[in-house]
Amino acid sequence: MTLIDTSGNYGNGRSEQFINQIIANQRERIFLVSKVEGDQVSGDGIARACAASLARLGSEYLDLYLLHWPVPSAQFSGVVAAFEQLRAAGKIRAWGVSNFSVGQMEDLFRVPDGHRCATNQVPYSLNNRGIERDVLPWCKQHNLPVMAYSPLGGDNNLVVGDRTLAQVGTIHGCSAAAVALAWVIRSGSVIAIPESGSPAHVKENAVALSIALTPRDLQTLNAAFPGPFGAT
Ligand SMILES: NC(=O)c1ccc[n+]([C@@H]2O[C@H](COP(=O)([O-])OP(=O)(O)OC[C@H]3O[C@@H](n4cnc5c(N)ncnc54)[C@H](OP(=O)(O)O)[C@@H]3O)[C@@H](O)[C@H]2O)c1
Repeated sequence: MTLIDTSGNYGNGRSEQFINQIIANQRERIFLVSKVEGDQVSGDGIARACAASLARLGSEYLDLYLLHWPVPSAQFSGVVAAFEQLRAAGKIRAWGVSNFSVGQMEDLFRVPDGHRCATNQVPYSLNNRGIERDVLPWCKQHNLPVMAYSPLGGDNNLVVGDRTLAQVGTIHGCSAAAVALAWVIRSGSVIAIPESGSPAHVKENAVALSIALTPRDLQTLNAAFPGPFGAT
């Protein structure tokens, strides 16, 4: 697991400063993602926010830079132009968005270079399957990988204590959390970014990358956590 997801505003920049120490001497091994806030996009705000993030991270570039939350669609062309300038300057390798609806993705793809968006980072977990109705099929249709945040349900709605997940985990010899993550990434076009402060949990979570859920597992999980189209 080599992707690190952070944001200029996590811990008022302290998250990036902490990551600086972690990635020192191994920057090339890491896929580094950070984010810019909606209230930073006017004027040269995106370039300034990016420079501040890079300074805190002690890195010359970001692998991916995301707009953290949507801004009004009228501002999309300015945001895209700023991202594209950063890409041309080598400060970022790709850019994307976060928490965008399908309507906002459509508006984004209408502005010049909007289709260069690399991903949409949205919440997705067994107990939060709303994007299956719209964002997920739209991104699939446009060959856009989705980044699933809160893939274990998030701090206040964790799925890891669920009995069905534990049962499926027993079959595969892994934890309930690993099953939940394997389910999120089952299509191959969704990236999961679980958070943990526990090395033991991180090791458990990494197991998800080597679990292939069977059609029967998927049916069992679907019955326990019905999506927007029901339990079948
Ligand atoms: N773009 C956005 O708007 C946005 C919004 C929210 C989050 N995010 C990103 O997504 C990341 C993850 O989202 P999240 O933190 O909301 O939700 P999450 O990853 O679904 O849940 C995090 C919680 O899961 C626990 N956990 C992790 N592995 C576990 C395991 N194996 N067994 C038991 N518990 C486990 C963690 O506790 P322990 O520390 O005890 O393991 C923590 O309390 C964030 O770090 C952030 O980078 C983005």
